[in-house]
Amino acid sequence: MDTRPIGIFDSGIGGLTVLHEVARLLPNEDLVYLGDTARVPYGTKSAETVIRYSIENTRFLLGKNVKAVVVACNSASATSMEPLRAEFPLPILGVIEAGVEEALRRTKSGAIGVIGTYATVQSGQYETLLRAGGAASVISQPCPLFVPLAEEGWTDNLVAEEVSKIYLEPFRRGTVDTLILGCTHYPLLEGVIGKTCGDGVTLVNSAYAIAVKLRGMLRESGLERGSPGGGRRFYFTDSPERAKMVGSRFLGEDLANRIELAALPPH
Ligand code: DGL
Repeated sequence: MDTRPIGIFDSGIGGLTVLHEVARLLPNEDLVYLGDTARVPYGTKSAETVIRYSIENTRFLLGKNVKAVVVACNSASATSMEPLRAEFPLPILGVIEAGVEEALRRTKSGAIGVIGTYATVQSGQYETLLRAGGAASVISQPCPLFVPLAEEGWTDNLVAEEVSKIYLEPFRRGTVDTLILGCTHYPLLEGVIGKTCGDGVTLVNSAYAIAVKLRGMLRESGLERGSPGGGRRFYFTDSPERAKMVGSRFLGEDLANRIELAALPPH
Protein backbone atom coordinates (compact mmCIF):
# COMPACT_ATOMS: atom_id res chain seq x y z
CA MET A 1 0.00 0.00 0.00
CA ASP A 2 1.32 3.41 -1.03
CA THR A 3 -0.58 6.65 -0.49
CA ARG A 4 1.62 8.83 -2.72
CA PRO A 5 -0.14 10.33 -5.77
CA ILE A 6 0.10 9.22 -9.40
CA GLY A 7 1.49 11.78 -11.84
CA ILE A 8 -0.01 12.22 -15.31
CA PHE A 9 1.41 14.57 -17.92
CA ASP A 10 0.39 15.72 -21.36
CA SER A 11 1.31 18.45 -23.82
CA GLY A 12 -1.83 20.31 -22.80
CA ILE A 13 -5.42 19.62 -21.91
CA GLY A 14 -5.94 16.48 -24.02
CA GLY A 15 -4.51 14.20 -21.34
CA LEU A 16 -7.51 15.03 -19.18
CA THR A 17 -9.27 12.28 -21.17
CA VAL A 18 -6.69 9.91 -19.65
CA LEU A 19 -7.08 11.37 -16.16
CA HIS A 20 -10.85 10.95 -16.52
CA GLU A 21 -10.45 7.20 -17.16
CA VAL A 22 -7.82 6.76 -14.43
CA ALA A 23 -10.06 8.56 -11.93
CA ARG A 24 -12.98 6.34 -12.93
CA LEU A 25 -11.05 3.07 -12.52
CA LEU A 26 -8.95 4.14 -9.52
CA PRO A 27 -11.21 6.52 -7.53
CA ASN A 28 -9.15 6.17 -4.35
CA GLU A 29 -5.87 7.27 -5.88
CA ASP A 30 -4.64 10.85 -5.54
CA LEU A 31 -3.79 12.26 -8.98
CA VAL A 32 -1.50 15.11 -10.02
CA TYR A 33 -1.95 16.34 -13.59
CA LEU A 34 0.53 18.48 -15.52
CA GLY A 35 -0.56 20.01 -18.84
CA ASP A 36 2.25 21.77 -20.70
CA THR A 37 -0.07 24.36 -22.27
CA ALA A 38 2.76 26.90 -22.67
CA ARG A 39 4.53 24.61 -25.17
CA VAL A 40 1.65 22.69 -26.80
CA PRO A 41 1.46 21.22 -29.46
CA TYR A 42 4.03 18.43 -29.21
CA GLY A 43 2.58 16.68 -32.28
CA THR A 44 4.35 18.94 -34.75
CA LYS A 45 7.70 19.14 -32.91
CA SER A 46 10.91 17.12 -33.33
CA ALA A 47 11.61 14.03 -31.21
CA GLU A 48 14.57 15.79 -29.49
CA THR A 49 12.38 18.67 -28.34
CA VAL A 50 9.56 16.42 -27.13
CA ILE A 51 12.06 14.26 -25.18
CA ARG A 52 13.46 17.37 -23.46
CA TYR A 53 9.95 18.54 -22.55
CA SER A 54 9.00 15.07 -21.30
CA ILE A 55 12.04 14.92 -19.00
CA GLU A 56 11.19 18.34 -17.56
CA ASN A 57 7.55 17.36 -17.05
CA THR A 58 8.52 14.14 -15.27
CA ARG A 59 10.96 16.02 -13.03
CA PHE A 60 8.16 18.40 -12.07
CA LEU A 61 5.88 15.49 -11.13
CA LEU A 62 8.67 13.87 -9.09
CA GLY A 63 8.78 17.11 -7.16
CA LYS A 64 5.17 16.33 -6.18
CA ASN A 65 6.32 13.00 -4.72
CA VAL A 66 4.50 10.77 -7.22
CA LYS A 67 4.83 6.98 -7.07
CA ALA A 68 4.31 6.41 -10.80
CA VAL A 69 4.07 8.52 -13.96
CA VAL A 70 1.59 8.13 -16.80
CA VAL A 71 2.67 9.66 -20.10
CA ALA A 72 -0.79 10.53 -21.38
CA CYS A 73 0.45 12.30 -24.51
CA ASN A 74 0.83 9.97 -27.50
CA SER A 75 3.43 12.23 -29.10
CA ALA A 76 5.52 12.07 -25.91
CA SER A 77 4.97 8.32 -25.52
CA ALA A 78 6.08 7.79 -29.12
CA THR A 79 9.42 9.47 -28.56
CA SER A 80 10.32 9.57 -24.88
CA MET A 81 9.68 6.27 -23.07
CA GLU A 82 13.28 5.00 -23.28
CA PRO A 83 14.95 8.26 -22.21
CA LEU A 84 12.44 8.68 -19.36
CA ARG A 85 12.92 5.13 -18.07
CA ALA A 86 16.70 5.53 -18.32
CA GLU A 87 16.61 8.75 -16.30
CA PHE A 88 13.96 8.13 -13.62
CA PRO A 89 13.79 5.14 -11.24
CA LEU A 90 10.01 4.77 -10.88
CA PRO A 91 7.29 3.03 -12.92
CA ILE A 92 6.53 5.04 -16.07
CA LEU A 93 3.64 3.93 -18.27
CA GLY A 94 3.09 5.15 -21.82
CA VAL A 95 -0.24 5.37 -23.53
CA ILE A 96 1.09 3.79 -26.75
CA GLU A 97 2.13 0.48 -25.17
CA ALA A 98 -1.30 0.23 -23.53
CA GLY A 99 -3.14 0.99 -26.78
CA VAL A 100 -1.07 -1.57 -28.68
CA GLU A 101 -1.77 -4.35 -26.17
CA GLU A 102 -5.50 -3.59 -26.25
CA ALA A 103 -5.60 -3.53 -30.07
CA LEU A 104 -3.77 -6.88 -30.30
CA ARG A 105 -6.31 -8.36 -27.86
CA ARG A 106 -9.26 -7.05 -29.86
CA THR A 107 -8.26 -7.69 -33.49
CA LYS A 108 -9.42 -10.85 -35.23
CA SER A 109 -7.91 -10.28 -38.67
CA GLY A 110 -4.60 -8.85 -37.40
CA ALA A 111 -5.10 -5.81 -39.66
CA ILE A 112 -4.86 -2.74 -37.43
CA GLY A 113 -5.11 0.99 -38.15
CA VAL A 114 -3.53 3.83 -36.19
CA ILE A 115 -4.44 7.52 -36.24
CA GLY A 116 -2.41 10.19 -34.43
CA THR A 117 -0.39 13.39 -34.74
CA TYR A 118 2.50 13.76 -37.18
CA ALA A 119 5.03 13.17 -34.36
CA THR A 120 3.30 9.95 -33.35
CA VAL A 121 2.86 8.54 -36.84
CA GLN A 122 6.34 9.58 -38.00
CA SER A 123 7.97 7.92 -34.97
CA GLY A 124 6.71 4.56 -36.27
CA GLN A 125 6.38 3.47 -32.64
CA TYR A 126 2.83 2.10 -32.90
CA GLU A 127 3.74 0.18 -36.04
CA THR A 128 6.93 -1.28 -34.53
CA LEU A 129 5.15 -2.48 -31.37
CA LEU A 130 2.09 -3.79 -33.26
CA ARG A 131 4.24 -5.80 -35.66
CA ALA A 132 6.40 -7.11 -32.82
CA GLY A 133 3.17 -8.26 -31.15
CA GLY A 134 2.06 -10.18 -34.25
CA ALA A 135 -0.09 -7.73 -36.25
CA ALA A 136 -0.39 -8.88 -39.84
CA SER A 137 -0.64 -5.37 -41.27
CA VAL A 138 -0.65 -1.81 -39.96
CA ILE A 139 -2.01 1.29 -41.69
CA SER A 140 -1.12 4.64 -40.06
CA GLN A 141 -2.66 7.99 -40.82
CA PRO A 142 -1.90 11.40 -39.29
CA CYS A 143 -5.08 13.35 -38.50
CA PRO A 144 -3.77 16.72 -37.21
CA LEU A 145 -7.01 18.65 -37.70
CA PHE A 146 -8.83 16.43 -35.20
CA VAL A 147 -6.93 18.24 -32.40
CA PRO A 148 -8.33 21.76 -33.01
CA LEU A 149 -11.76 20.30 -33.85
CA ALA A 150 -11.90 18.56 -30.46
CA GLU A 151 -10.74 21.70 -28.63
CA GLU A 152 -13.32 23.80 -30.47
CA GLY A 153 -16.05 21.34 -29.51
CA TRP A 154 -16.74 20.59 -33.19
CA THR A 155 -17.01 16.88 -32.64
CA ASP A 156 -20.27 15.95 -34.34
CA ASN A 157 -21.02 18.61 -36.97
CA LEU A 158 -20.66 18.63 -40.76
CA VAL A 159 -17.07 19.85 -40.64
CA ALA A 160 -16.06 16.97 -38.36
CA GLU A 161 -17.85 14.53 -40.69
CA GLU A 162 -16.12 15.87 -43.81
CA VAL A 163 -12.67 15.90 -42.19
CA SER A 164 -13.25 12.36 -40.95
CA LYS A 165 -14.22 11.12 -44.39
CA ILE A 166 -11.00 12.51 -45.90
CA TYR A 167 -8.63 11.30 -43.16
CA LEU A 168 -10.27 7.94 -42.62
CA GLU A 169 -10.59 6.95 -46.27
CA PRO A 170 -7.81 4.32 -45.90
CA PHE A 171 -9.90 2.52 -43.24
CA ARG A 172 -13.26 2.48 -45.01
CA ARG A 173 -12.98 -0.52 -47.28
CA GLY A 174 -12.52 -3.30 -44.77
CA THR A 175 -8.76 -2.78 -44.69
CA VAL A 176 -8.60 -3.00 -40.88
CA ASP A 177 -10.86 -4.46 -38.20
CA THR A 178 -9.39 -2.39 -35.33
CA LEU A 179 -8.43 1.28 -35.20
CA ILE A 180 -6.33 2.83 -32.42
CA LEU A 181 -7.30 6.37 -31.42
CA GLY A 182 -3.64 7.33 -30.98
CA CYS A 183 -4.04 10.87 -29.67
CA THR A 184 -5.40 12.30 -26.44
CA HIS A 185 -8.03 14.34 -28.30
CA TYR A 186 -9.54 11.62 -30.45
CA PRO A 187 -11.83 9.98 -27.86
CA LEU A 188 -13.94 13.15 -28.09
CA LEU A 189 -14.48 12.38 -31.78
CA GLU A 190 -15.18 8.69 -31.19
CA GLY A 191 -18.78 9.05 -32.46
CA VAL A 192 -17.94 10.57 -35.82
CA ILE A 193 -14.86 8.35 -36.29
CA GLY A 194 -16.94 5.25 -35.58
CA LYS A 195 -19.67 6.37 -37.96
CA THR A 196 -17.15 7.07 -40.74
CA CYS A 197 -15.31 3.76 -40.40
CA GLY A 198 -18.46 1.67 -40.00
CA ASP A 199 -19.50 -1.20 -37.76
CA GLY A 200 -16.74 -3.53 -38.96
CA VAL A 201 -14.06 -1.46 -37.23
CA THR A 202 -13.49 -1.65 -33.46
CA LEU A 203 -12.13 1.57 -31.98
CA VAL A 204 -9.46 1.32 -29.28
CA ASN A 205 -9.47 4.19 -26.80
CA SER A 206 -5.92 4.34 -25.42
CA ALA A 207 -7.09 6.43 -22.46
CA TYR A 208 -9.15 3.53 -21.13
CA ALA A 209 -6.45 1.00 -22.05
CA ILE A 210 -3.78 2.80 -20.02
CA ALA A 211 -6.08 3.16 -17.00
CA VAL A 212 -6.59 -0.62 -17.00
CA LYS A 213 -2.85 -1.22 -17.37
CA LEU A 214 -2.06 1.22 -14.57
CA ARG A 215 -4.51 -0.49 -12.22
CA GLY A 216 -2.88 -3.88 -12.95
CA MET A 217 0.64 -2.50 -12.40
CA LEU A 218 -0.29 -0.88 -9.06
CA ARG A 219 -1.89 -4.10 -7.81
CA GLU A 220 0.96 -6.34 -8.88
CA SER A 221 3.66 -4.11 -7.44
CA GLY A 222 1.89 -3.37 -4.16
CA LEU A 223 1.70 0.35 -4.96
CA GLU A 224 -2.10 0.55 -4.81
CA ARG A 225 -3.60 2.94 -2.31
CA GLY A 226 -5.62 0.98 0.23
CA SER A 227 -7.35 3.88 1.98
CA PRO A 228 -9.82 6.40 0.53
CA GLY A 229 -8.14 9.37 -1.14
CA GLY A 230 -9.27 10.72 -4.48
CA GLY A 231 -7.44 14.09 -4.36
CA ARG A 232 -6.92 15.81 -7.72
CA ARG A 233 -4.41 18.57 -8.47
CA PHE A 234 -4.23 20.25 -11.87
CA TYR A 235 -1.13 22.13 -12.98
CA PHE A 236 -0.72 23.94 -16.29
CA THR A 237 2.35 25.78 -17.58
CA ASP A 238 0.35 28.59 -19.20
CA SER A 239 -2.26 30.85 -17.62
CA PRO A 240 -5.33 28.85 -16.71
CA GLU A 241 -8.08 30.65 -18.66
CA ARG A 242 -8.18 28.38 -21.71
CA ALA A 243 -7.52 25.26 -19.65
CA LYS A 244 -10.53 26.12 -17.49
CA MET A 245 -12.81 26.51 -20.47
CA VAL A 246 -11.68 23.68 -22.76
CA GLY A 247 -10.30 21.37 -20.07
CA SER A 248 -13.60 21.08 -18.27
CA ARG A 249 -15.11 19.58 -21.41
CA PHE A 250 -12.26 17.08 -21.81
CA LEU A 251 -12.44 16.09 -18.17
CA GLY A 252 -16.23 15.94 -18.02
CA GLU A 253 -16.34 18.06 -14.86
CA ASP A 254 -15.74 21.67 -13.92
CA LEU A 255 -12.07 22.61 -13.45
CA ALA A 256 -12.98 26.19 -12.49
CA ASN A 257 -10.86 27.19 -9.50
CA ARG A 258 -8.83 24.02 -9.16
CA ILE A 259 -6.01 25.01 -11.56
CA GLU A 260 -2.51 25.90 -10.38
CA LEU A 261 0.27 27.45 -12.46
CA ALA A 262 3.31 25.17 -12.82
CA ALA A 263 6.87 26.47 -12.94
CA LEU A 264 8.97 23.74 -14.54
CA PRO A 265 12.44 23.11 -13.11
CA PRO A 266 15.25 23.92 -15.60
CA HIS A 267 16.74 21.07 -17.60
N1 DGL B 1 -1.46 15.33 -26.65
C1 DGL B 1 -1.05 15.19 -28.03
C2 DGL B 1 -1.01 13.70 -28.39
O1 DGL B 1 -1.67 12.87 -27.79
C3 DGL B 1 -1.96 15.96 -28.97
C4 DGL B 1 -1.74 17.45 -28.92
C5 DGL B 1 -0.34 17.86 -29.30
O2 DGL B 1 0.01 17.80 -30.51
O3 DGL B 1 0.42 18.21 -28.42
O4 DGL B 1 -0.33 13.34 -29.30
